[in-house]
Amino acid sequence: MNSKFIKQIQKRRTLAIISHPDAGKTTITEKVLLFGQAIQIAGTVKGRGSNQYAKSDWMEIEKQRGISITTSVMQFPYKGCMINLLDTPGHADFSEDTYRTLTAVDCCLMVIDTAKGVEERTRKLMEVTRLRHTPILTFMNKLDRDIRDPIDILDEIEKELKIACSPITWPVGSGRYFKGVYHLYEDKTYLYQTGKGHTIQKIKSIEGLNNPELEVVLGEDVATQLRQELELIKGASHKFDLNAFLSGQLTPVFFGTALGNFGVDHILDALVTWSPSPTEREAEQRKVFAEEEKLTGFIFKIQANMDPKHRDRIAFMRIVSGSYKKGMKLFQVRTQKELMVSDALTFMAGDRTQAEDSFPGDIIGLHNHGTIQIGDTFTQGETLKFTGIPHFAPELFRQIRLSDPLKQKQLLKGLIQLSEEGAVQIFRPLSNNNMILGAVGALQFDVVVSRLKNEYHVSAVYDVVNICTVCWVSCYEKKEWAEFTKKNENNLALDGGNHLSYLAPTLVNLRMVQERHPKIIFRKIREQ
Ligand code: G4P
Repeated sequence: MNSKFIKQIQKRRTLAIISHPDAGKTTITEKVLLFGQAIQIAGTVKGRGSNQYAKSDWMEIEKQRGISITTSVMQFPYKGCMINLLDTPGHADFSEDTYRTLTAVDCCLMVIDTAKGVEERTRKLMEVTRLRHTPILTFMNKLDRDIRDPIDILDEIEKELKIACSPITWPVGSGRYFKGVYHLYEDKTYLYQTGKGHTIQKIKSIEGLNNPELEVVLGEDVATQLRQELELIKGASHKFDLNAFLSGQLTPVFFGTALGNFGVDHILDALVTWSPSPTEREAEQRKVFAEEEKLTGFIFKIQANMDPKHRDRIAFMRIVSGSYKKGMKLFQVRTQKELMVSDALTFMAGDRTQAEDSFPGDIIGLHNHGTIQIGDTFTQGETLKFTGIPHFAPELFRQIRLSDPLKQKQLLKGLIQLSEEGAVQIFRPLSNNNMILGAVGALQFDVVVSRLKNEYHVSAVYDVVNICTVCWVSCYEKKEWAEFTKKNENNLALDGGNHLSYLAPTLVNLRMVQERHPKIIFRKIREQ
């Protein structure tokens, strides 16, 4: 095997950040890029701030689609490794893409606002990472503010997110009294300085917990308290265990402040030393190993490009095995067609440049006009289908209605094409001609109406619809299935891929139907 190729694989780390809005994802991304020398000064990453995409302001998102393509994947070097950081839209631009991106990475960084603890979005995102037992690194952010008791938060993470916590660093004070962190495995205290967050700082450290210099720098009381706290922590917390981390059962926990750029390098160091490089991925036919010579990959995200007139889209492909070379031919398994790829994009340092050479773990962007779908597998001729690129049940629903009833055909065409991009799902009830849209982020509804108008010349409006949740349904037994579909016709609908789903008006209704039909399988996640 080509040793240069193997080295390239071993260098790769493909990562996403999971957090609740405002926990500090954008700020950490900035600092990480600073360390990766992808940006010169912090403060230049687009998409900051909780209110940037207020609902009425969604046009901005459309305008920025070009920008978000470049920030969808950010590749940068760090300590001999090549990091691919995949963006997970989090505010109003939160969508199914956010979930699906998590199925394309080898590791996640969970960011917790230490003043708040475990929040709702983080819970949901962690459920998705559990599907593939993805290793999780944890950063407890905003230590420069008044925080909750870190021990309580670790407890909360263990209980609510069902993952063991192993503190690697421990904070010395917080808020105005935040002095730094003690590294449990290096036996070193790193000292925090305020006002240096926009640069890479020279961090002072003190070796050894019993070093009398600690008293000098921290004061006697703080040093004593730190030693006492650490005794407790060392006794009561989990030791770091690499295998438990790699199987997603234990998370190493780091403390710091993203704004102060303190502690971020500890996570990056953990990423390069502990996180896995690309290994293998299941396909329906067999396991595919990163070291295999032939290129394989799958599409996890599709994004409409800048020029709506041409319906130009970029499909994001995660490379699973082999390497991509500019100008190579790819085989699209679903359509059994060959595709010459001369202009794939890579995302080095956040720039859009043409891909020359890409390796397992890397993401390349393929231009297309609607021929590529989410979940597509590409190979160099082999018929393979990668698994684990699911559709997630939407959480919000609207009924879409045409302003001009004669345009029904265009509406359906537009909706199916937009649903193929994966941001919104369409459901067509069996018992009437209504069209229901489902999404995981509310903004998607506004985007759909605008794009229908601009790209398909169809004016549509929404009506409220009484649907609380949806499940895809199936059954191995014919008789049960026939009875179920007959009795529940009014709640059944076909999605964009013609899969049958149950639209439940309430959770109570769903539970009752499930109890009445125990042989019917109800799924919140559907694979392609
Ligand atoms: P997000 O992408 O997860 O939504 O969070 P983002 O990084 O945008 O951070 C949300 C807010 O929290 C920002 O303040 C940011 O400056 C602040 N923040 C992030 N990390 C830290 C930290 O370590 N300490 C403190 N004190 N604040 C932090 P903002 O006022 O909403 O935005 P801005 O005006 O600062 O841009």
